[in-house]
Amino acid sequence: SEGLHTIQQLGEADLRSIIDRSLDLRGGASPRVYRSKTLALMFFESSTRTRVSFEMAAKKLGASVVVFDSKNSSLAKGETLKDTISTISSYCPDAIVIRSSFGGASILAQRWSNSAVINAGDGAHQHPTQALLDLVTLVSHFGSIDALAGKKIAIVGDISHSRVARSLVSLLSKVGSKVVLVGPRDLVPWQFEGESVEITDSFDSVVPKVDIFYMLRVQRERIRGDSVIHDQEYASKFSLTKERFSKGSNGAMIMHPGPVFPGMEVDSDLAESQRSLIREQTRNSIFTRMAVLEAVFEANSNTKGEA
Ligand code: CP
Repeated sequence: SEGLHTIQQLGEADLRSIIDRSLDLRGGASPRVYRSKTLALMFFESSTRTRVSFEMAAKKLGASVVVFDSKNSSLAKGETLKDTISTISSYCPDAIVIRSSFGGASILAQRWSNSAVINAGDGAHQHPTQALLDLVTLVSHFGSIDALAGKKIAIVGDISHSRVARSLVSLLSKVGSKVVLVGPRDLVPWQFEGESVEITDSFDSVVPKVDIFYMLRVQRERIRGDSVIHDQEYASKFSLTKERFSKGSNGAMIMHPGPVFPGMEVDSDLAESQRSLIREQTRNSIFTRMAVLEAVFEANSNTKGEA
C-alpha cells in the first residue's frame, strides 16, 4: 500500500495536485465520496488539531473512522507497538493515521501493515500534512505556488525537536522560498539535513527581511540533557513581540502550527490580529487532509470515489 510518510516522497505533480485540490475544496468543490472506506486513527502521542481534523476530513468524505484509544489499549499490558499495529491492520482499515514520539514510526508501521499509513507526526522527524496545510495557507495568501519563489520565511524557535520544521523546510525548498532558521544555539542544528538554509541565533538581525514569521513552540517534553531554556531569556531574544514585529516589513505575516503558548512565542494580540494566518492554517487543515485522504484512497483502490 502507498502511504504518506515524508515530504521528500512527494514529486512536483503530487504536490501541485494536493495543493490545487485543497484549494478547490476550500472554494466549495464537492468532495469525492468514500462510504466503503475506513480510516483508523492511531495516536500514541497527544494531539488536538491533527487528530480532530483527520476525523472530520474523513467524515466529510463519507468514510468511517475508528479511533484507537492508546491509553486504554493493551499497550498498557506490555503489548509491543508492532503487535498493536499488526492487530489493527488485520481488521483491514483502508488507511491508518499514526502519530508517535518515535522518528520513523510511520515507515515501520507501513512495513507491519497492509493498510496505507499516513504520518501524523513521528518524533522530531516529519509531519507532512502540517507542512502541506501550511503550504496551502501560503499559496492562498500569496496567490499561487510560483509566487512563493524568493519569499523569505523565518522559522523561529525550537528547530532541533521540530518535525514541523523538517517537513516545512523540505517543502519550501521545493517551491523556491528562502528559509532562515532562527533560535538559541542549543535548539538549532548547525547543519540541517543537507537542505540549503540560513541559520542564525540573532532574530533581530533578520526581522526586517522576513515575509513570513513561522513561530514554533519550545518542546519541553523532548528536551533532554543539559539544555535549560529559561522562559524570560528565551522570550527576550526569540518571542515575536509587538516591538519586534513593528521593525518588520509592512506585509509580513505570522504563522504557527499550534499549540501556541501566548506571550512566549508570539504576542497574544498579534497572534489574533489581521497579520496572523494562524486561523487560516487551522481552517485549511480540514481541506488539506481531505485532499490527502482522497489521494491515498485513490492510490490504493481499484474503484474511483462513489460520486
Ligand atoms: N500542529 C499540530 O500538530 O497540533 P496537534 O499536536 O494539536 O495535533
